[in-house]
Amino acid sequence: MQSAKIPLPYFDILLEHINLGDAAVQKTFGRHVHWGYWENPWKADGSVDDFAAAAEQLTQRVYAAANVKEGDRVLDAGCGFGGTIASLNENFSNLNLVGLNIDPRQLERARQEVQPHGNNQIEFVEGDACQLPFADASFDVVLAVECIFHFPSRADFFHEARRVLRPGGRFAICDFVPLPVFNPIRRLLTNKVVSAVEDTYGRVNSECTLADYRKLATDSGFTLTLKEDITGKTLPTYPVIRRLFEQLDKPDSAQATAEVELVSRLGLLRYLILGFTR
Ligand SMILES: C[S@@+](CC[C@H](N)C(=O)[O-])C[C@H]1O[C@@H](n2cnc3c(N)ncnc32)[C@H](O)[C@@H]1O
Repeated sequence: MQSAKIPLPYFDILLEHINLGDAAVQKTFGRHVHWGYWENPWKADGSVDDFAAAAEQLTQRVYAAANVKEGDRVLDAGCGFGGTIASLNENFSNLNLVGLNIDPRQLERARQEVQPHGNNQIEFVEGDACQLPFADASFDVVLAVECIFHFPSRADFFHEARRVLRPGGRFAICDFVPLPVFNPIRRLLTNKVVSAVEDTYGRVNSECTLADYRKLATDSGFTLTLKEDITGKTLPTYPVIRRLFEQLDKPDSAQATAEVELVSRLGLLRYLILGFTR
């Protein structure tokens, strides 16, 4: 079932179970494939319905950071199963929405699941976020929801995002951002921990600090306009995902998720929403 151009083991697992009609997987990750956002994390009840609602909240917070408005042309880079495009389609009208993904299997599901309404137009395009197949200055908004850590180069993606945005265009992302002190600590971690995470989540680079993001923005011609640290609001995600992997008989993936949970709970790995303008 592996046909993505880059290995994405967790998508192999998700697609296998979605195609088998697994209701828990469909509810948890059939639309959004990212962490949840709980305004009141202590009220999280651990259910898949509660998680799906929180995942929708996270998406809405990211596109709010880009101030999407009627009439915009919006690119969602690394669009997964099209959940962010679906949410924009449900909440706005007169948008031109483009979802881009490197994995044609995900795009196939997105095309099946997301139908335009409210005078919106929707297109799903196969491609690499670091080589965007779009004209210069052709979008008002670029989004990248919890995916930039997979891209071959953040710098290339920032340059591409700036190129395809019109002057004044808005760019918003969310990402796992380490405290500077965590990077040297992480290099001391055993290969076993590192490869457990890669065996589940594929190639992940989560070494980009906030200072690195500020430099990326400056170097590529963006101004950082919003920085929201939502780490605490995302933490109820971890038990849900760990339990799901255990139910799917993937104990190594549950363990890899627990490693990420630990450094998040220790505050070493932050979850940030960042907004930029061109
Ligand atoms: C954690 S998922 C997030 C999916 C979606 N943004 C969401 O929030 O539901 C990461 C996504 O990045 C995509 N991806 C990874 N590398 C990519 C690349 N170089 N170009 C475009 N998409 C990529 C994956 O296929 C996957 O859909």
